[in-house]
Amino acid sequence: MHMNRNHVLKSTDGLNDESRSDVEIRQLGATDAQAFSSLRRELTADNPIPMGLTMEEELSRSLEGFEEQLSYPAPNAAFGAFCDGELVGSAAVAWQSRFPSSRHKAILWGTFVSPRFRRRGLGRLLLEHAIAHASAHAVRRVNLTMYSPNDAAEQLYQSLGFVRYGVEPEAVCLNGVYHDGVQMSLLLGP
Ligand SMILES: CC(C)(COP(=O)(O)OP(=O)(O)OC[C@H]1O[C@@H](n2cnc3c(N)ncnc32)[C@H](O)[C@@H]1OP(=O)(O)O)[C@@H](O)C(=O)NCCC(=O)NCCS
Repeated sequence: MHMNRNHVLKSTDGLNDESRSDVEIRQLGATDAQAFSSLRRELTADNPIPMGLTMEEELSRSLEGFEEQLSYPAPNAAFGAFCDGELVGSAAVAWQSRFPSSRHKAILWGTFVSPRFRRRGLGRLLLEHAIAHASAHAVRRVNLTMYSPNDAAEQLYQSLGFVRYGVEPEAVCLNGVYHDGVQMSLLLGP
Protein backbone atom coordinates (compact mmCIF):
# COMPACT_ATOMS: atom_id res chain seq x y z
CA MET A 1 0.00 0.00 0.00
CA HIS A 2 1.61 3.29 -1.03
CA MET A 3 0.49 6.37 0.83
CA ASN A 4 1.80 9.82 0.21
CA ARG A 5 2.12 12.31 3.01
CA ASN A 6 -1.31 13.84 2.55
CA HIS A 7 -3.19 10.61 2.23
CA VAL A 8 -5.74 10.17 4.99
CA LEU A 9 -7.02 6.71 5.56
CA LYS A 10 -10.03 6.00 7.68
CA SER A 11 -9.31 2.54 8.90
CA THR A 12 -11.25 0.60 11.45
CA ASP A 13 -10.81 -2.99 10.26
CA GLY A 14 -9.32 -5.14 12.98
CA LEU A 15 -10.17 -2.76 15.80
CA ASN A 16 -12.30 -3.88 18.70
CA ASP A 17 -15.72 -2.35 19.22
CA GLU A 18 -14.52 0.21 21.77
CA SER A 19 -12.31 1.95 19.21
CA ARG A 20 -14.12 1.21 15.97
CA SER A 21 -15.25 4.81 15.51
CA ASP A 22 -13.25 8.00 15.13
CA VAL A 23 -9.88 6.38 14.43
CA GLU A 24 -7.82 7.83 11.63
CA ILE A 25 -4.45 6.60 10.47
CA ARG A 26 -2.41 9.06 8.43
CA GLN A 27 1.16 9.89 7.67
CA LEU A 28 2.80 12.36 10.05
CA GLY A 29 4.73 15.47 9.05
CA ALA A 30 6.55 18.39 10.63
CA THR A 31 3.29 20.01 11.76
CA ASP A 32 2.66 16.97 14.00
CA ALA A 33 5.95 17.46 15.90
CA GLN A 34 4.37 19.05 18.98
CA ALA A 35 1.77 16.30 19.33
CA PHE A 36 4.43 13.66 18.71
CA SER A 37 6.64 15.13 21.43
CA SER A 38 3.72 15.30 23.89
CA LEU A 39 2.84 11.68 23.18
CA ARG A 40 6.46 10.58 23.68
CA ARG A 41 6.56 12.45 27.01
CA GLU A 42 3.38 10.74 28.16
CA LEU A 43 4.85 7.34 27.24
CA THR A 44 8.20 8.07 28.90
CA ALA A 45 6.54 9.25 32.11
CA ASP A 46 4.55 6.01 32.14
CA ASN A 47 7.58 3.75 31.47
CA PRO A 48 10.94 4.91 30.08
CA ILE A 49 12.21 1.41 29.20
CA PRO A 50 10.48 0.99 25.80
CA MET A 51 11.54 4.51 24.82
CA GLY A 52 15.19 3.95 25.73
CA LEU A 53 15.55 7.43 27.25
CA THR A 54 15.12 8.86 30.72
CA MET A 55 12.44 11.49 31.25
CA GLU A 56 15.16 14.13 31.62
CA GLU A 57 16.63 13.11 28.26
CA GLU A 58 13.23 13.11 26.58
CA LEU A 59 12.45 16.58 27.95
CA SER A 60 15.74 17.87 26.52
CA ARG A 61 14.75 17.00 22.93
CA SER A 62 13.88 19.97 20.75
CA LEU A 63 10.78 20.51 18.67
CA GLU A 64 13.04 21.15 15.68
CA GLY A 65 14.51 17.69 16.09
CA PHE A 66 11.07 16.09 15.89
CA GLU A 67 10.13 18.29 12.93
CA GLU A 68 13.21 17.02 11.15
CA GLN A 69 12.54 13.39 12.12
CA LEU A 70 8.97 13.59 10.80
CA SER A 71 10.18 15.19 7.55
CA TYR A 72 12.63 12.53 6.44
CA PRO A 73 12.36 12.24 2.64
CA ALA A 74 10.12 9.58 1.10
CA PRO A 75 9.87 6.66 1.28
CA ASN A 76 10.72 7.19 4.98
CA ALA A 77 7.37 7.48 6.72
CA ALA A 78 5.86 7.85 10.18
CA PHE A 79 2.21 6.97 10.68
CA GLY A 80 -0.02 8.30 13.42
CA ALA A 81 -3.27 7.04 14.90
CA PHE A 82 -5.72 9.79 15.79
CA CYS A 83 -8.72 9.35 18.06
CA ASP A 84 -11.12 12.29 17.97
CA GLY A 85 -8.31 14.32 16.47
CA GLU A 86 -5.74 13.49 19.16
CA LEU A 87 -2.49 11.75 18.21
CA VAL A 88 -2.53 8.61 20.38
CA GLY A 89 -0.09 6.26 18.67
CA SER A 90 2.58 5.94 16.01
CA ALA A 91 4.77 3.57 14.02
CA ALA A 92 7.45 4.50 11.50
CA VAL A 93 9.84 3.00 8.98
CA ALA A 94 13.20 4.40 7.88
CA TRP A 95 15.82 3.45 5.34
CA GLN A 96 19.27 3.86 6.82
CA SER A 97 21.31 3.80 3.62
CA ARG A 98 20.87 5.41 0.20
CA PHE A 99 22.91 2.66 -1.46
CA PRO A 100 21.11 -0.07 -3.42
CA SER A 101 22.99 -2.76 -1.52
CA SER A 102 20.99 -1.92 1.63
CA ARG A 103 17.66 -0.76 0.21
CA HIS A 104 16.05 -4.16 0.79
CA LYS A 105 15.86 -3.49 4.54
CA ALA A 106 14.13 -0.89 6.68
CA ILE A 107 14.15 -0.03 10.37
CA LEU A 108 10.92 0.08 12.34
CA TRP A 109 10.98 2.90 14.89
CA GLY A 110 8.61 5.05 16.93
CA THR A 111 6.11 2.31 17.71
CA PHE A 112 3.98 3.28 20.68
CA VAL A 113 0.41 3.80 21.83
CA SER A 114 -0.73 6.07 24.65
CA PRO A 115 -1.42 4.09 27.86
CA ARG A 116 -4.94 5.54 27.70
CA PHE A 117 -5.64 3.81 24.36
CA ARG A 118 -4.03 0.39 24.65
CA ARG A 119 -5.49 -3.07 23.94
CA ARG A 120 -7.85 -1.70 21.31
CA GLY A 121 -5.93 -2.93 18.29
CA LEU A 122 -4.20 0.38 17.52
CA GLY A 123 -0.65 -0.95 17.91
CA ARG A 124 -1.33 -3.78 15.49
CA LEU A 125 -3.08 -1.44 13.04
CA LEU A 126 -0.18 1.03 13.05
CA LEU A 127 2.38 -1.72 12.53
CA GLU A 128 0.37 -3.15 9.66
CA HIS A 129 0.43 0.27 8.00
CA ALA A 130 4.17 0.72 8.50
CA ILE A 131 4.95 -2.80 7.26
CA ALA A 132 2.64 -2.45 4.25
CA HIS A 133 4.39 0.80 3.37
CA ALA A 134 7.79 -0.90 3.57
CA SER A 135 6.55 -3.82 1.51
CA ALA A 136 5.21 -1.46 -1.16
CA HIS A 137 8.74 -0.06 -1.42
CA ALA A 138 10.39 -3.39 -2.13
CA VAL A 139 11.57 -4.00 1.41
CA ARG A 140 12.47 -7.61 2.11
CA ARG A 141 13.32 -7.27 5.81
CA VAL A 142 11.99 -5.00 8.54
CA ASN A 143 14.31 -4.83 11.55
CA LEU A 144 13.85 -3.33 14.98
CA THR A 145 15.44 -3.01 18.41
CA MET A 146 13.30 -3.42 21.50
CA TYR A 147 14.56 -2.71 25.03
CA SER A 148 13.71 -5.44 27.48
CA PRO A 149 11.71 -6.38 29.38
CA ASN A 150 8.77 -5.57 27.13
CA ASP A 151 6.36 -8.51 26.95
CA ALA A 152 3.54 -6.52 25.34
CA ALA A 153 5.66 -5.39 22.40
CA GLU A 154 7.38 -8.73 21.98
CA GLN A 155 4.04 -10.56 21.82
CA LEU A 156 2.75 -8.08 19.28
CA TYR A 157 5.89 -8.33 17.13
CA GLN A 158 5.89 -12.13 17.31
CA SER A 159 2.24 -12.27 16.29
CA LEU A 160 3.20 -10.33 13.14
CA GLY A 161 6.02 -12.74 12.33
CA PHE A 162 9.07 -10.97 13.78
CA VAL A 163 11.75 -13.28 15.19
CA ARG A 164 14.65 -12.50 17.51
CA TYR A 165 18.04 -12.52 15.85
CA GLY A 166 20.27 -11.00 18.49
CA VAL A 167 20.63 -9.24 21.81
CA GLU A 168 22.83 -6.25 22.59
CA PRO A 169 23.73 -6.66 26.26
CA GLU A 170 23.22 -3.55 28.39
CA ALA A 171 22.12 -1.44 25.42
CA VAL A 172 20.84 1.42 27.57
CA CYS A 173 21.21 2.45 31.22
CA LEU A 174 18.06 4.07 32.56
CA ASN A 175 18.08 5.45 36.07
CA GLY A 176 20.93 3.14 37.06
CA VAL A 177 19.50 -0.06 35.54
CA TYR A 178 20.87 -1.69 32.37
CA HIS A 179 18.46 -2.96 29.72
CA ASP A 180 19.32 -5.26 26.83
CA GLY A 181 18.45 -4.35 23.26
CA VAL A 182 16.55 -7.23 21.65
CA GLN A 183 16.91 -7.26 17.87
CA MET A 184 14.04 -8.65 15.82
CA SER A 185 13.54 -9.13 12.10
CA LEU A 186 10.53 -9.73 9.86
CA LEU A 187 11.08 -11.38 6.48
CA LEU A 188 8.61 -10.06 3.90
CA GLY A 189 10.10 -11.38 0.70
CA PRO A 190 9.96 -14.94 -0.60
C1 LIG B 1 3.37 -2.46 22.50
C2 LIG B 1 2.20 -1.49 22.26
C3 LIG B 1 2.56 -0.57 21.09
C4 LIG B 1 0.95 -2.28 21.91
O1 LIG B 1 -0.07 -1.35 21.59
P1 LIG B 1 -1.63 -1.73 21.73
O2 LIG B 1 -2.40 -0.75 20.95
O3 LIG B 1 -1.99 -1.89 23.14
O4 LIG B 1 -1.63 -3.16 21.02
P2 LIG B 1 -2.88 -3.95 20.40
O5 LIG B 1 -4.12 -3.60 21.13
O6 LIG B 1 -2.88 -3.76 18.93
O7 LIG B 1 -2.50 -5.45 20.77
C5 LIG B 1 -1.94 -6.29 19.81
C6 LIG B 1 -1.33 -7.50 20.49
O8 LIG B 1 -0.19 -7.12 21.26
C7 LIG B 1 -0.07 -7.99 22.39
N1 LIG B 1 -0.19 -7.20 23.61
C8 LIG B 1 -0.52 -5.88 23.69
N2 LIG B 1 -0.48 -5.48 24.98
C9 LIG B 1 -0.12 -6.57 25.70
C10 LIG B 1 0.12 -6.79 27.08
N3 LIG B 1 -0.02 -5.80 27.99
N4 LIG B 1 0.51 -8.01 27.48
C11 LIG B 1 0.66 -9.00 26.59
N5 LIG B 1 0.44 -8.87 25.26
C12 LIG B 1 0.08 -7.67 24.83
C13 LIG B 1 -1.19 -8.99 22.28
O9 LIG B 1 -0.72 -10.09 21.55
C14 LIG B 1 -2.21 -8.20 21.48
O10 LIG B 1 -3.11 -9.01 20.82
P3 LIG B 1 -4.52 -9.37 21.53
O11 LIG B 1 -5.10 -8.07 21.99
O12 LIG B 1 -5.29 -10.01 20.42
O13 LIG B 1 -4.17 -10.27 22.65
C15 LIG B 1 1.89 -0.66 23.55
O14 LIG B 1 1.77 -1.54 24.64
C16 LIG B 1 2.94 0.38 23.86
O15 LIG B 1 2.89 1.49 23.35
N6 LIG B 1 3.90 0.03 24.74
C17 LIG B 1 4.93 0.99 25.13
C18 LIG B 1 5.82 1.36 23.97
C19 LIG B 1 6.46 0.15 23.37
O16 LIG B 1 6.73 -0.85 24.01
N7 LIG B 1 6.76 0.26 22.05
C20 LIG B 1 7.52 -0.76 21.35
C21 LIG B 1 8.96 -0.37 21.37
S1 LIG B 1 10.01 -1.54 20.54
